[in-house]
Amino acid sequence: MKIAIFDSGLGGITVLSEAMRRMPGEQFIYFADTKHVPYGTKSHEEVKQNILESVRIIAEEPIQALVVACNTATSIGIRDLRMQYPFPVIGMEPAVKPAVAITRPIGKRVLVLATQLTLKESKYKDLVQRVDDYGIVDSLPMPGLVTLCEELQFDEQLVDEYVGRQFEGLALQDYGTVVLGCTHFPFFKRHLAKWFAPNVKMIDGAKGTVNRLMEVVKADRHGSTGSLPNVDFRCSGEDKQYVHKMKQALEMISDGGSNEFDESK
Ligand code: DGL
Repeated sequence: MKIAIFDSGLGGITVLSEAMRRMPGEQFIYFADTKHVPYGTKSHEEVKQNILESVRIIAEEPIQALVVACNTATSIGIRDLRMQYPFPVIGMEPAVKPAVAITRPIGKRVLVLATQLTLKESKYKDLVQRVDDYGIVDSLPMPGLVTLCEELQFDEQLVDEYVGRQFEGLALQDYGTVVLGCTHFPFFKRHLAKWFAPNVKMIDGAKGTVNRLMEVVKADRHGSTGSLPNVDFRCSGEDKQYVHKMKQALEMISDGGSNEFDESK
């Protein structure tokens, strides 16, 4: 049976790439809800409907596990999905806990980048409340990065202009760790890193999520069939070019690699 990986758009490709690298021999379905991307600027109710509709389509064929490779969708829909479906559902949340753990001892602050909706939800607020004993966590929405990623727009100058505007007024030298709390953001790791000192850590959720996935499906780390991992790319919208885009995004991120730490939920 296949493993399904789901996101609003291209962001979950950052998780797919990590899963393919570490779980050769597995068969994957990658589903992008292109009809409704982006999620992060919509309302809780709207996104909840979009998630349930998407997973209804995904679950039309038997799957062994579902990875919600989207921080926004996890905070909105994970509980309903776990209640409604018999297969394991693995979600993601911004890696605030490990970020605080490594940053507090060095006397620096943590900057969490995510979508507006993720940052607004009680799941995120509760998480920060639980782990941020010393008040060192700042949160910043970066919706423009989702749009740029969906357009496969990584032009240095364009991205710099947007990121610069978002960072205005922040004391960037105070940060020791940046949490990439949206699966679209690792595509911009290089663009973001240059605003910070070279020793500042950027952490995302891909590795932790795949650790959890491997526990759940008890995958043979060395691959059982010797065959290459196979991906069935799908989307909810009409855009015929989108499969090509997904493949391009996968190629790009596979060249760049992913990060340590991170949390799955
Ligand atoms: N990739 C998603 C996340 O991890 C959301 C992007 C969006 O659709 O706004 O939060």
